[in-house]
Amino acid sequence: MSEPFLIGENMTGGYGKGPDILHDCTIAVNPGEIAVIVGPNGAGKSTAMKAVFGMLTVRSGSVRLAGEDITQLSPQDRVVKGMGFVPQTSNIFASMTVEENLEMGAFIRTDDFSETLEQVYHLFPILKDKRNQAAGELSGGQRQQVAVGRALMTKPKVLMLDEPTAGVSPIVMDELFDRIIEVARTGLPILMVEQNAKQALEIADKGYVLVQGRNAYTGTGQDLLADPGVRKSFLGG
Ligand SMILES: Nc1ncnc2c1ncn2[C@@H]1O[C@H](COP(=O)(O)OP(=O)(O)OP(=O)(O)O)[C@@H](O)[C@H]1O
Ligand SMILES: [Mg+2]
Repeated sequence: MSEPFLIGENMTGGYGKGPDILHDCTIAVNPGEIAVIVGPNGAGKSTAMKAVFGMLTVRSGSVRLAGEDITQLSPQDRVVKGMGFVPQTSNIFASMTVEENLEMGAFIRTDDFSETLEQVYHLFPILKDKRNQAAGELSGGQRQQVAVGRALMTKPKVLMLDEPTAGVSPIVMDELFDRIIEVARTGLPILMVEQNAKQALEIADKGYVLVQGRNAYTGTGQDLLADPGVRKSFLGG
Protein backbone atom coordinates (compact mmCIF):
# COMPACT_ATOMS: atom_id res chain seq x y z
CA MET A 1 0.00 0.00 0.00
CA SER A 2 1.37 3.41 -0.85
CA GLU A 3 1.97 6.13 1.70
CA PRO A 4 -1.23 8.08 2.55
CA PHE A 5 -1.18 11.85 2.04
CA LEU A 6 -1.71 12.51 5.75
CA ILE A 7 -1.28 9.87 8.39
CA GLY A 8 -1.09 9.77 12.15
CA GLU A 9 0.34 6.29 12.59
CA ASN A 10 0.36 4.14 15.73
CA MET A 11 -0.08 7.22 17.89
CA THR A 12 0.16 6.69 21.64
CA GLY A 13 -0.04 9.64 23.99
CA GLY A 14 -2.09 11.87 26.27
CA TYR A 15 -2.20 15.35 27.77
CA GLY A 16 0.85 16.64 29.64
CA LYS A 17 1.99 14.12 32.20
CA GLY A 18 -1.44 12.47 32.32
CA PRO A 19 -2.29 8.94 31.27
CA ASP A 20 -2.26 7.84 27.65
CA ILE A 21 -5.55 8.59 25.90
CA LEU A 22 -4.51 7.23 22.49
CA HIS A 23 -3.23 3.69 22.19
CA ASP A 24 -1.57 2.76 18.93
CA CYS A 25 -4.15 4.81 17.07
CA THR A 26 -3.90 5.28 13.30
CA ILE A 27 -5.90 7.68 11.11
CA ALA A 28 -5.15 8.70 7.54
CA VAL A 29 -6.58 10.42 4.49
CA ASN A 30 -5.79 10.64 0.79
CA PRO A 31 -6.47 13.28 -1.89
CA GLY A 32 -10.07 13.39 -3.05
CA GLU A 33 -11.15 11.38 -0.02
CA ILE A 34 -13.37 12.06 2.93
CA ALA A 35 -12.17 10.08 5.95
CA VAL A 36 -14.51 10.01 8.92
CA ILE A 37 -13.76 9.24 12.56
CA VAL A 38 -16.68 8.09 14.69
CA GLY A 39 -17.02 6.58 18.15
CA PRO A 40 -18.57 7.15 21.54
CA ASN A 41 -18.13 10.34 23.60
CA GLY A 42 -14.72 10.36 25.23
CA ALA A 43 -13.31 7.79 22.80
CA GLY A 44 -10.43 10.10 21.94
CA LYS A 45 -11.61 11.37 18.56
CA SER A 46 -10.74 15.00 19.28
CA THR A 47 -7.53 13.89 20.96
CA ALA A 48 -6.53 11.98 17.82
CA MET A 49 -7.20 15.08 15.70
CA LYS A 50 -5.19 17.24 18.09
CA ALA A 51 -2.34 14.74 17.98
CA VAL A 52 -2.28 14.91 14.19
CA PHE A 53 -2.31 18.71 14.40
CA GLY A 54 0.52 18.77 16.96
CA MET A 55 -1.44 19.98 19.97
CA LEU A 56 -0.27 17.13 22.15
CA THR A 57 2.93 15.17 22.25
CA VAL A 58 2.76 11.63 21.06
CA ARG A 59 4.92 9.32 23.13
CA SER A 60 5.24 6.95 20.23
CA GLY A 61 4.07 6.84 16.66
CA SER A 62 4.44 9.44 13.96
CA VAL A 63 2.59 11.98 11.85
CA ARG A 64 3.52 12.30 8.19
CA LEU A 65 2.30 14.75 5.57
CA ALA A 66 3.08 14.10 1.91
CA GLY A 67 5.78 11.66 2.99
CA GLU A 68 7.46 14.09 5.35
CA ASP A 69 7.76 13.28 9.06
CA ILE A 70 6.20 16.26 10.85
CA THR A 71 5.85 14.63 14.28
CA GLN A 72 8.02 17.27 15.94
CA LEU A 73 6.49 20.35 14.29
CA SER A 74 4.36 22.90 16.17
CA PRO A 75 0.74 23.41 15.06
CA GLN A 76 1.75 26.76 13.50
CA ASP A 77 4.41 25.06 11.41
CA ARG A 78 1.90 22.40 10.39
CA VAL A 79 -0.41 25.16 9.12
CA VAL A 80 2.46 26.48 7.04
CA LYS A 81 2.95 22.93 5.69
CA GLY A 82 -0.68 22.91 4.54
CA MET A 83 -2.85 21.64 7.40
CA GLY A 84 -6.17 23.39 7.99
CA PHE A 85 -7.82 22.48 11.28
CA VAL A 86 -11.25 23.41 12.62
CA PRO A 87 -11.40 22.46 16.31
CA GLN A 88 -14.57 21.22 18.02
CA THR A 89 -14.97 24.31 20.21
CA SER A 90 -13.97 28.00 20.12
CA ASN A 91 -13.44 27.86 16.39
CA ILE A 92 -14.47 31.45 15.56
CA PHE A 93 -13.86 34.93 16.97
CA ALA A 94 -17.38 35.85 18.11
CA SER A 95 -16.85 39.62 18.44
CA MET A 96 -15.21 40.00 15.04
CA THR A 97 -17.16 40.26 11.81
CA VAL A 98 -17.55 37.32 9.45
CA GLU A 99 -15.14 38.89 7.00
CA GLU A 100 -12.57 39.65 9.71
CA ASN A 101 -12.75 36.01 10.78
CA LEU A 102 -12.09 34.91 7.22
CA GLU A 103 -9.24 37.40 6.84
CA MET A 104 -7.71 36.10 10.07
CA GLY A 105 -7.67 32.69 8.41
CA ALA A 106 -5.33 34.04 5.78
CA PHE A 107 -2.80 35.21 8.37
CA ILE A 108 0.02 33.02 7.09
CA ARG A 109 -0.38 34.19 3.53
CA THR A 110 1.69 36.92 1.97
CA ASP A 111 -0.04 36.76 -1.42
CA ASP A 112 -3.37 38.27 -2.46
CA PHE A 113 -6.11 36.19 -0.83
CA SER A 114 -9.10 38.02 -2.36
CA GLU A 115 -9.72 35.18 -4.81
CA THR A 116 -9.89 32.64 -1.98
CA LEU A 117 -12.29 34.93 -0.14
CA GLU A 118 -14.55 34.95 -3.20
CA GLN A 119 -14.34 31.14 -3.37
CA VAL A 120 -15.42 30.88 0.27
CA TYR A 121 -18.32 33.28 -0.38
CA HIS A 122 -19.25 31.22 -3.43
CA LEU A 123 -19.27 28.04 -1.32
CA PHE A 124 -21.17 29.70 1.56
CA PRO A 125 -23.26 32.54 0.04
CA ILE A 126 -24.87 33.39 3.38
CA LEU A 127 -21.47 34.49 4.67
CA LYS A 128 -21.23 37.09 1.94
CA ASP A 129 -24.60 38.52 2.94
CA LYS A 130 -23.53 38.64 6.57
CA ARG A 131 -19.92 39.61 6.04
CA ASN A 132 -20.12 42.78 8.14
CA GLN A 133 -22.03 41.16 11.00
CA ALA A 134 -20.35 39.91 14.19
CA ALA A 135 -19.78 36.17 13.85
CA GLY A 136 -21.22 35.64 17.33
CA GLU A 137 -24.63 36.82 16.06
CA LEU A 138 -24.86 34.01 13.51
CA SER A 139 -26.78 30.75 13.85
CA GLY A 140 -24.93 27.55 14.79
CA GLY A 141 -24.81 26.29 11.21
CA GLN A 142 -23.65 29.67 9.91
CA ARG A 143 -20.89 29.81 12.53
CA GLN A 144 -19.68 26.41 11.41
CA GLN A 145 -19.53 27.78 7.87
CA VAL A 146 -17.38 30.65 9.15
CA ALA A 147 -15.07 28.17 10.89
CA VAL A 148 -14.70 25.98 7.80
CA GLY A 149 -14.30 29.06 5.59
CA ARG A 150 -11.60 30.42 7.86
CA ALA A 151 -9.64 27.16 7.56
CA LEU A 152 -10.03 27.26 3.75
CA MET A 153 -8.52 30.77 3.67
CA THR A 154 -5.04 29.33 4.30
CA LYS A 155 -5.46 27.33 1.06
CA PRO A 156 -4.72 24.11 2.91
CA LYS A 157 -3.56 20.86 1.33
CA VAL A 158 -5.65 18.90 3.81
CA LEU A 159 -8.68 19.93 5.86
CA MET A 160 -9.36 18.55 9.34
CA LEU A 161 -12.82 19.14 10.83
CA ASP A 162 -13.82 18.18 14.37
CA GLU A 163 -17.61 17.80 14.43
CA PRO A 164 -18.51 20.37 11.76
CA THR A 165 -22.21 19.65 12.22
CA ALA A 166 -22.34 19.77 16.02
CA GLY A 167 -25.55 21.27 17.32
CA VAL A 168 -27.22 21.93 13.97
CA SER A 169 -30.57 20.67 12.70
CA PRO A 170 -30.74 17.66 10.32
CA ILE A 171 -31.47 19.95 7.35
CA VAL A 172 -28.48 22.16 8.11
CA MET A 173 -26.37 19.04 8.65
CA ASP A 174 -27.29 17.79 5.16
CA GLU A 175 -26.38 21.18 3.69
CA LEU A 176 -23.03 21.25 5.47
CA PHE A 177 -22.28 17.71 4.30
CA ASP A 178 -23.10 18.76 0.72
CA ARG A 179 -20.64 21.65 1.00
CA ILE A 180 -17.99 19.35 2.49
CA ILE A 181 -18.46 16.90 -0.39
CA GLU A 182 -18.14 19.83 -2.80
CA VAL A 183 -14.82 20.82 -1.20
CA ALA A 184 -13.57 17.21 -1.29
CA ARG A 185 -14.41 16.99 -5.00
CA THR A 186 -11.90 19.77 -5.67
CA GLY A 187 -9.29 17.21 -4.57
CA LEU A 188 -8.78 18.53 -1.05
CA PRO A 189 -8.53 15.59 1.38
CA ILE A 190 -10.87 15.90 4.36
CA LEU A 191 -10.42 14.19 7.71
CA MET A 192 -13.37 14.73 9.99
CA VAL A 193 -14.86 13.65 13.27
CA GLU A 194 -18.62 13.19 13.28
CA GLN A 195 -21.24 12.56 15.92
CA ASN A 196 -23.80 11.75 13.22
CA ALA A 197 -22.12 8.43 12.51
CA LYS A 198 -24.58 6.94 10.06
CA GLN A 199 -24.90 10.00 7.84
CA ALA A 200 -21.17 10.65 7.97
CA LEU A 201 -20.23 7.08 7.02
CA GLU A 202 -22.59 7.35 4.05
CA ILE A 203 -20.39 10.09 2.59
CA ALA A 204 -17.09 8.59 3.80
CA ASP A 205 -14.57 6.97 1.51
CA LYS A 206 -12.86 5.70 4.62
CA GLY A 207 -14.12 5.28 8.16
CA TYR A 208 -12.52 4.77 11.53
CA VAL A 209 -14.36 3.70 14.65
CA LEU A 210 -12.38 4.64 17.75
CA VAL A 211 -13.11 3.12 21.15
CA GLN A 212 -11.12 4.04 24.24
CA GLY A 213 -8.33 5.53 22.19
CA ARG A 214 -7.94 2.48 19.97
CA ASN A 215 -8.92 1.65 16.39
CA ALA A 216 -11.91 -0.66 16.81
CA TYR A 217 -13.02 -0.87 13.16
CA THR A 218 -11.51 0.50 9.96
CA GLY A 219 -12.88 0.22 6.45
CA THR A 220 -14.70 2.02 3.68
CA GLY A 221 -17.78 3.90 4.83
CA GLN A 222 -19.93 1.23 3.15
CA ASP A 223 -17.99 -1.59 4.86
CA LEU A 224 -18.59 -0.07 8.26
CA LEU A 225 -22.26 0.63 7.59
CA ALA A 226 -22.67 -3.05 6.67
CA ASP A 227 -20.59 -4.45 9.55
CA PRO A 228 -22.86 -6.16 12.11
CA GLY A 229 -20.54 -5.24 15.00
CA VAL A 230 -20.44 -1.58 14.03
CA ARG A 231 -24.19 -1.51 13.43
CA LYS A 232 -24.98 -3.11 16.76
CA SER A 233 -22.61 -1.01 18.87
CA PHE A 234 -22.56 2.36 17.13
CA LEU A 235 -25.39 2.74 14.65
CA GLY A 236 -28.32 1.60 16.73
CA GLY A 237 -28.67 -1.86 15.12
N1 LIG B 1 -7.25 19.00 27.61
C1 LIG B 1 -7.36 17.81 28.19
N2 LIG B 1 -6.63 17.47 29.28
C2 LIG B 1 -6.74 16.26 29.85
N3 LIG B 1 -7.58 15.29 29.43
C3 LIG B 1 -8.34 15.57 28.34
C4 LIG B 1 -8.27 16.83 27.68
N4 LIG B 1 -9.15 16.79 26.64
C5 LIG B 1 -9.72 15.58 26.67
N5 LIG B 1 -9.24 14.83 27.69
C6 LIG B 1 -9.62 13.45 28.01
O1 LIG B 1 -9.33 12.62 26.91
C7 LIG B 1 -10.35 11.63 26.73
C8 LIG B 1 -10.84 11.68 25.29
O2 LIG B 1 -11.45 12.95 25.05
P1 LIG B 1 -11.78 13.48 23.61
O3 LIG B 1 -12.20 14.90 23.74
O4 LIG B 1 -10.65 13.18 22.70
O5 LIG B 1 -13.01 12.54 23.23
P2 LIG B 1 -13.99 12.62 21.96
O6 LIG B 1 -14.02 11.24 21.38
O7 LIG B 1 -13.63 13.74 21.09
O8 LIG B 1 -15.40 12.88 22.70
P3 LIG B 1 -16.67 13.77 22.20
O9 LIG B 1 -17.46 12.86 21.30
O10 LIG B 1 -17.42 14.01 23.48
O11 LIG B 1 -16.18 15.01 21.54
C9 LIG B 1 -11.42 11.91 27.78
O12 LIG B 1 -11.25 11.00 28.82
C10 LIG B 1 -11.12 13.32 28.24
O13 LIG B 1 -11.44 13.49 29.57
MG1 LIG C 1 -14.55 15.46 20.52
